[in-house]
Amino acid sequence: MDRTRRLRQTAVMRSMVRENHVRTEELIYPLFVMEGENIVQPVESMPGICQYSVDRMNEELDRVKALQIPAILIFGIPEHKDEVGSGAYDEHGIVQTAIRRIKKDYPDLLVIADVCLCEYTSHGHCGLIRDGIILNDETLPLLAQTAVSYARAGADIIAPSDMMDKRVGAIRQALDAAGFTYTPIMAYSAKFASGYYGPFRDAAHSAPGFGDRKTYQMDPANGREAMREVEEDIAEGADLIIAKPAMAYMDIITEIRRNYNIPIVAYNVSGEYSMVKAAAANGWIDEKKIVMENLIGMKRAGADMIITYHALDVAEWIQKGE
Ligand code: PBG
Ligand code: ZN
Repeated sequence: MDRTRRLRQTAVMRSMVRENHVRTEELIYPLFVMEGENIVQPVESMPGICQYSVDRMNEELDRVKALQIPAILIFGIPEHKDEVGSGAYDEHGIVQTAIRRIKKDYPDLLVIADVCLCEYTSHGHCGLIRDGIILNDETLPLLAQTAVSYARAGADIIAPSDMMDKRVGAIRQALDAAGFTYTPIMAYSAKFASGYYGPFRDAAHSAPGFGDRKTYQMDPANGREAMREVEEDIAEGADLIIAKPAMAYMDIITEIRRNYNIPIVAYNVSGEYSMVKAAAANGWIDEKKIVMENLIGMKRAGADMIITYHALDVAEWIQKGE
């Protein structure tokens, strides 16, 4: 008679038959760098997360290094915004400056640069605008220029998050032309128009000034369409695929895993983080248990890597063997 409980009797036995693991080597920690000096500004809607000026970001990066987190995902908050998001592709922009400094002070830390215009445009959209419409093809050269300038600053991986059609191809071409043939593209391919990005938009000052992002980010109802996005991005040269958000979209991660042979990154986004932090602060849930359960769910679904604001905590728990 089959008794599945036989293999659950002791911690040793459970550990030996465990199918999935969350490892520090697979974690990517988001970092918000802000123009200005002497800034360590807590993000109210994301307890534990701060915006840092370049002169103080090493306080956070020292923790990242000490916990052996291999990679960061960098976002910039510029002082000035304009219609065309010129801060994104300014050779002396906030992200370019931060990356140069990081690669000098932490040469082994993998720096992934999020490429988008929304933090840099006065209207807060991810592309150029004419007559209230977010333009696609006109935006591509600016994204490509941004990607090349990040690569030139020392970015190890380029991560376009804008959701314009054909941007992976445009960025690949521009990187190759500039000599960055071996700089990988981590494409936000299955990126849904989600309410879960709310706290991030506080952190990155990137909320759209009018309307929403539904004409370029995906409809949460669509799973098959996500596979089309992934297929197109792979054809255009994506090296890694991001699925985002993670928790309400675990089926998407699994579908990508079943259909494509490419590394998958689950983005455990800001709203997912803030919900857990808020419930934990109220004493309603056990933070450590919930976070580890969420992350193992992403691994079980098929993710290879996880971008998460919990990375420092998780690395510490793993290190302590908790
Ligand atoms: C920029 C970008 C966003 C996120 C990553 N890159 C926000 C958005 O698309 O509105 C969301 C990350 C998060 O919520 O943690 N396009
Ligand atoms: Zn954007």
